[in-house]
Amino acid sequence: MPYILSLDQGTTSSRAILFAQDGSIVASSQKEFRQIYPNSGWVEHDPYDILTSQLSSAIDALTRAGARPRDISALGITNQRETVIVWDRETSKPIYNAIVWQDRRTAGTCQQLVQNGMEDTVRCKTGLLIDPYFSASKIAWILDNIEGAREKAEAGKLAFGTVDSWLIWNLTSGKKHVTDYTNASRTMLFNIVEGTWDKDLLTLFKIPSQMMPEVTWSSGEIGEVTTTLGLGSIPIAGIAGDQQGALFGQLCLKAGDAKNTYGTGCFLLQNIGQTFVSSKHRLITTLICSLNRRLEYAFEGSIFIGGAVVQWLRDNLKLIRASSEVEALAQSVKDSDGVVLVPAFVGLGAPHWDAHASGLLIGLRRSTQPGHIARAALESIAFQVSDVIDAMNSESANWFFELRVDGGAAVNDMLMQFQADLLGIPVLRPAVTETTALGAAYLAGLAVGFWENPEQIWSLRKNDTRFEPKADPKETARLRERWHNAVERSKHWTQ
Ligand code: G3P
Repeated sequence: MPYILSLDQGTTSSRAILFAQDGSIVASSQKEFRQIYPNSGWVEHDPYDILTSQLSSAIDALTRAGARPRDISALGITNQRETVIVWDRETSKPIYNAIVWQDRRTAGTCQQLVQNGMEDTVRCKTGLLIDPYFSASKIAWILDNIEGAREKAEAGKLAFGTVDSWLIWNLTSGKKHVTDYTNASRTMLFNIVEGTWDKDLLTLFKIPSQMMPEVTWSSGEIGEVTTTLGLGSIPIAGIAGDQQGALFGQLCLKAGDAKNTYGTGCFLLQNIGQTFVSSKHRLITTLICSLNRRLEYAFEGSIFIGGAVVQWLRDNLKLIRASSEVEALAQSVKDSDGVVLVPAFVGLGAPHWDAHASGLLIGLRRSTQPGHIARAALESIAFQVSDVIDAMNSESANWFFELRVDGGAAVNDMLMQFQADLLGIPVLRPAVTETTALGAAYLAGLAVGFWENPEQIWSLRKNDTRFEPKADPKETARLRERWHNAVERSKHWTQ
């Protein structure tokens, strides 16, 4: 049986999923890996943890399916975006840990750029707001802080990549230094109107252009895996940033189509077609996967902490032993009893963009139980998504009459029902919630003729689960008002 292998390199785990021609999951494997917090507000990964967890999950998935490399028609890669890795071209060794998208160490640099009036320039070229979230200031930090890095970069000896580039470099034994348009659009160095690395922005951040990868389309044969890694000579034929992967996996291929992914963060993307439009409501504009080989765009609302709030309950507060226990704990109480948790652990993304906001837990009483906190944590995910949908509704002519969802936390029925109640519109969950990996599989499969076209793929989809709004709108308006009050209190805390 031929399969497509999808590698989904996320913020907290690496997953590998084998998809069959009918779009079903044949086997999968997931490996969590180490999060490194060297300083307050800093988040790093060891690039070798990324690589080994990803490769071992791939081998694991193949073993579980009883598949050999020659059973794999193509490989698709999708990844946590913006995270920065800089390595030596000769030795392939990273010169520093991966600086993760959530890392805030460059908040001061970004604030300075805003004060210097750079926001409009950056926005017109990249569609982004100036924020430490994006790659540029993190690359600059590495060049400024690692001894000898700048000289080596200028001499063309260093390579920069987001996680897709790092994986492909290793999978091809250093033959390919590439990224795709969707990942490039997250660096704050890529001009998404012209489709090129932007000389002015490279100069602004003092980043030598020799470090930058070649940019390719998301669907197309990119290279071959070298045999030494136990994955045979599988063609690599799909690359996408994970959120654009999910948009493609949900087949949101025309303007107006939108999805929200509940992963480590939450990311709401709405396809806006082939014309670049700059947001007026503090959303960003980003490139999406195109089968037409033309630049296509989406508005995006990026929420930094989504499902990660559950991990925080598990690993930091130790309220649960496994993430799957959160729903039962939250349902042990009838409501949050006034407890509100604003999970601004790494600042706030859309629509606030406050790198200095901090997490806030408010409304505690003598009677507060772990269940109330778990409930407030889950509710915080839905509140944040509702705020982004409000911004998007004000932005675009395509109002939300329903919300397509996916991602790990979308399997939580309580959360999905609360989301539908807050929004007052139905929430639709697909049978396969791993749409990020599915999107990468579609991109690779379409490139090698495993699937003929999106229409064929669409015909394979099973029915969605539908959550209808049930709550009293007056009550949800009251809850949202209390939430907004708490969000305001969380802002500017570390300034
Ligand atoms: O922009 C960050 C995003 O790509 C991270 O995705 O799935 O790890 O939450 P995820």
